[in-house]
Amino acid sequence: MSTNTELQLRRIAAMPRGISVLCHFHAAQADNALITDTEGRQYIDFSAGIAVLNTGHRHPRVVAAIEQQLARFTHTAFQVVAYESAIALAERLNALAPIAGPAKTALFTTGVEAVENAVKIARHATGRSALIAFNGAFHGRTLLGLSLTGKVEPYKAGFGSMVPEVYHLPFPSEALGVSVDDALAALARLFKVDVDPQRVAAILIEPVQGEGGFYPAPPALLESLRALCDTHGILLIADEVQTGFGRTGRLFAMQHHSVHADLICMAKSLGGGMPLAGVVGRAAVMDSPAPGGLGSTYAANPLSVAAAHAVLDIIEDEKLCARAQTLGDRLQARLKRLQAADAGIVEVRGLGSMVAMELRKAGTHAPDVERVNAILRAALSRGLLLLNCGLYGNVVRFLYPLTIDDALFDRALDILDDVIQGS
Ligand SMILES: Cc1ncc(COP(=O)(O)O)c(C=O)c1O
Repeated sequence: MSTNTELQLRRIAAMPRGISVLCHFHAAQADNALITDTEGRQYIDFSAGIAVLNTGHRHPRVVAAIEQQLARFTHTAFQVVAYESAIALAERLNALAPIAGPAKTALFTTGVEAVENAVKIARHATGRSALIAFNGAFHGRTLLGLSLTGKVEPYKAGFGSMVPEVYHLPFPSEALGVSVDDALAALARLFKVDVDPQRVAAILIEPVQGEGGFYPAPPALLESLRALCDTHGILLIADEVQTGFGRTGRLFAMQHHSVHADLICMAKSLGGGMPLAGVVGRAAVMDSPAPGGLGSTYAANPLSVAAAHAVLDIIEDEKLCARAQTLGDRLQARLKRLQAADAGIVEVRGLGSMVAMELRKAGTHAPDVERVNAILRAALSRGLLLLNCGLYGNVVRFLYPLTIDDALFDRALDILDDVIQGS
């Protein structure tokens, strides 16, 4: 097998630099929470393929479901020849998702496709075009996804004009010094200065901002947005692409809130490592686009759908929502102990197992990206794969598979302890 250095050189020669790669090693095998590289070294995976593997790498039940489907058919194009497994998955998601009243689900392939389609559905249902999203939001890398995303470097810079009529509001968080009142005042100003609320089709929000820094949306914000949406006939879209499928301690993060979204975007851990996305929403809204208005060639891929059924079974049978809460609590307790003796750790926060630690330079309050990068590098050299996030990249985020066993989890926390204290 090729060495990591050989593969890195081949990648740089064959692939554009715009696709940047965090790790210097290359995967040869992955099992639950461990990745083995081409040189036989093992890494504890606290990235889970960016929140895709809540059920771990190659969960045996996911593998068996894919193998069974592989023996039947791999593709018909659902829009040409439909199949029961996708219909049954839509029925399951309609029953599970926190949507008020009857729900319908449309299946797609990637997270940004779910976002694009939720916006198309909202525009069609309201007959309006303007959209509101948040600073620091991440909604994907297509041109509409980028337009909704609230971070310029590296996502938007150099890619030309964005989709018109997309507005951004400050996202409330204590660490950023933005209150719910500040965000709502900015919305009132937006309606006064920039856009007639009667032109707004939808407000998009991540119930916990992902790429933006793992900031949970305050319940008061969602309650106020819901009320404003109802007043002005605007649809509320929850982007649960990163928060979904048990990560926050509930199947959907919106289940932590007393109000419902009209549409929910989902992807990532739904497919357990297979590409699958969807939009679930109020049936009357979902039915607005005419036949042929929605769909795509690979939407509801049969192998991905088979994997998703197994994922939903595993989350229920292995009680992964409760496990997310238990592991998240243990991690937060450990990080808070470190924080007590470390002025650079300004906040440890999270919902369930969507946990983050924000670092600033002690005394100056400036984002400490250098220390975050040093922690990521040191952890990797000790065999622990971590990711960062945040508008300034100064947040360490933790996204281990919820199926990780206690011994490996504890080993990872010990490495974390060492590298944070040594940084
Ligand atoms: C909240 C959110 N929305 C949308 C996306 C885009 O998903 P994908 O990369 O599958 O297109 C992401 C990806 O990280 C995400 O975190």
